[in-house]
Amino acid sequence: MKLKFSIIISFICSLIFGQNNSFEPGKFWKDTDGVHINAHGGGVIFVDGTYYWYGEFKSEGKEGNTALKGVSCYSSKDLYNWHNEGIVLEVEEDPNSEITKGCIMERPKVVFNKKTGKYVMWFHLELKGEGYDAARAAAAISDSPKGPFTYKKSYRPNRGVWPMNFKDEFKSASTAERNLKSWSPEWVTAVKNGMLVRRDFKKGQMARDMTVYVDDNEKAYLIHSSEENLTLHISELTDDYLDFTEKWTRMAPAGHNEAPAIFKKDGIYYMITSGCTGWDPNEARSFKSKSIWGPWETLGNPCVGKGAELTFYAQSTYIFPVQGKKDQFIFMADRWKPDNPIDGAYIWLPVKITHEKPVLNWFDKWNLNVFSEN
Ligand code: GAL
Repeated sequence: MKLKFSIIISFICSLIFGQNNSFEPGKFWKDTDGVHINAHGGGVIFVDGTYYWYGEFKSEGKEGNTALKGVSCYSSKDLYNWHNEGIVLEVEEDPNSEITKGCIMERPKVVFNKKTGKYVMWFHLELKGEGYDAARAAAAISDSPKGPFTYKKSYRPNRGVWPMNFKDEFKSASTAERNLKSWSPEWVTAVKNGMLVRRDFKKGQMARDMTVYVDDNEKAYLIHSSEENLTLHISELTDDYLDFTEKWTRMAPAGHNEAPAIFKKDGIYYMITSGCTGWDPNEARSFKSKSIWGPWETLGNPCVGKGAELTFYAQSTYIFPVQGKKDQFIFMADRWKPDNPIDGAYIWLPVKITHEKPVLNWFDKWNLNVFSEN
């Protein structure tokens, strides 16, 4: 009865005030100015009663996938109605800047550091004109969730440091491995045994698709696609969240995972990822572990319903807790439009945990009341 009443009230409000009162995955998502939200590959945090959604600002046309403006931010009290807060990390005009206009800034994620009182943004940075070769993780910092963020620096993580539990016998390369044919069984074994970790040991490990996760004890981790996107790396951040402690591990070696999104419920970490097919959608994967350091158990495709085999034509980006709904989470994904990136759409769905497995059911339209029924 209470549920029906709140649905009727929100429906009336939407008629009177033109407000959104539900999520319609894949549809045109109007901000409070009536413009389609422009925050792709994003993440959401909650600060003092307000949600902030950060994402890649995309432009029109093929060039629109490069960073022509920077990272955008929207704010909302209810998750349905988003106010445009503008660009919070701007690209720079200086051609020598790492974040010069036309570089690639992807998958920005913001976290709050309780010790320093700063908001820290991490994103995947590619240098202008170098395709996806630089494979760096970059950090920026702000005193306010609304920015402006000041660019700090970029990294190839874990330079000169072996991952945890890396066998001594894998620390030196065999000359034979250079000539292995990609995807031959011997090559897969060599990758699993750290062939690319060894290759990048001196230079630092690659960081492409990424997310940041802050644990209950305030320790933070960068989770990044590394080793030519073949293996995810989980790298612990320093107490100020601006550097690496050099404690890191490899997850699902040679598993080809991208787009990591993580959350924790009842002491279990869950991760949802995608395969690697560029802007094209593929089947999502899921994992669980009792420790951030693994072992991570493979759980398979979490999606259920029409389009489940292609993650509802989208790719994961983030999972965040809903305030006031204990242990309830929203899964965020992007339906990319590479020919006109600004049109990229958002797929948000409630996360259900069934027998320690995340499940994403498709809804054409839903609202936060689904969590009362979970
Ligand atoms: C995807 C990745 C995106 C973007 C794209 C470029 O696989 O998840 O963030 O990097 O490739 O092709």
